Amino acid sequence: MRKKIVAGNWKMNLDYTAGLSLFSEVLNMVNDEVRGDQEVIVCPPSLFVYSLAQLAKQNSRVSVGAQNGHQADSGAYTGEISASQIKSAGAEYVILGHSERRQYFAETNQLLAEKTNAALKNDLKPIFCIGETLDERNQNIHFQLIKTQLEEGVFHLSAEEFAKIVLAYEPVWAIGTGVTASPEQAQEIHAFIRSEIAAKYGAEVAQNTTILYGGSCNPKNAAELFSQADIDGGLIGGASLKSRDFTDIIKAFNK
Ligand code: 13P
Repeated sequence: MRKKIVAGNWKMNLDYTAGLSLFSEVLNMVNDEVRGDQEVIVCPPSLFVYSLAQLAKQNSRVSVGAQNGHQADSGAYTGEISASQIKSAGAEYVILGHSERRQYFAETNQLLAEKTNAALKNDLKPIFCIGETLDERNQNIHFQLIKTQLEEGVFHLSAEEFAKIVLAYEPVWAIGTGVTASPEQAQEIHAFIRSEIAAKYGAEVAQNTTILYGGSCNPKNAAELFSQADIDGGLIGGASLKSRDFTDIIKAFNK
């Protein structure tokens, strides 16, 4: 069966001391909450990855991820971080294709395909984000857009490689806005994503793929979202910055 995951994306928030203390709280609080098929991932700013990964060693159900990685192995790319560097600092995951990277750093599906390859080559599991803007939804082109993001970003992978990735559906209009996709809206897209995976890689791979929902997910709406057949957890922004909210979202699996 596929894994259930709650992942926190801290984005560019918190200083080092606050980050360490939040993570320590999360480690203490989630201990009794995470069941056998569940995993918690925290994606801090990359400067904190090493320290958090050291702390996470005591807890087999909590891992650390980066928020972005470069496509090249190494070289003259001032300010960038490679997948092998992220891995060597102790991370297991890397978020790729977040809408903020697509929007503010002009990351295209083609570039993201290269970043995905670099991550997998270095044994780092991508949390690959897809999702439409409000404008695209209003134009009713969101299904096609998501299909293209999958086809160009990750469908070049072999079935064996694809089995290592986690997908996150994050409608851009729901990110940081307080407007959550309704459970039905999210489920409709998640089912569509799973059917596209089945068409490409077969039913078994599709059934085993973890697909997270992200966008204004909070302790109040998490249980209903996570109870949908094709929603396997969440990618949490704002609510991952508060240990109690984040833990309450994790608890939503067991409601
Ligand atoms: P919010 O939970 O703050 O809406 O952010 C979602 C997100 O972008 C997670 O990657």
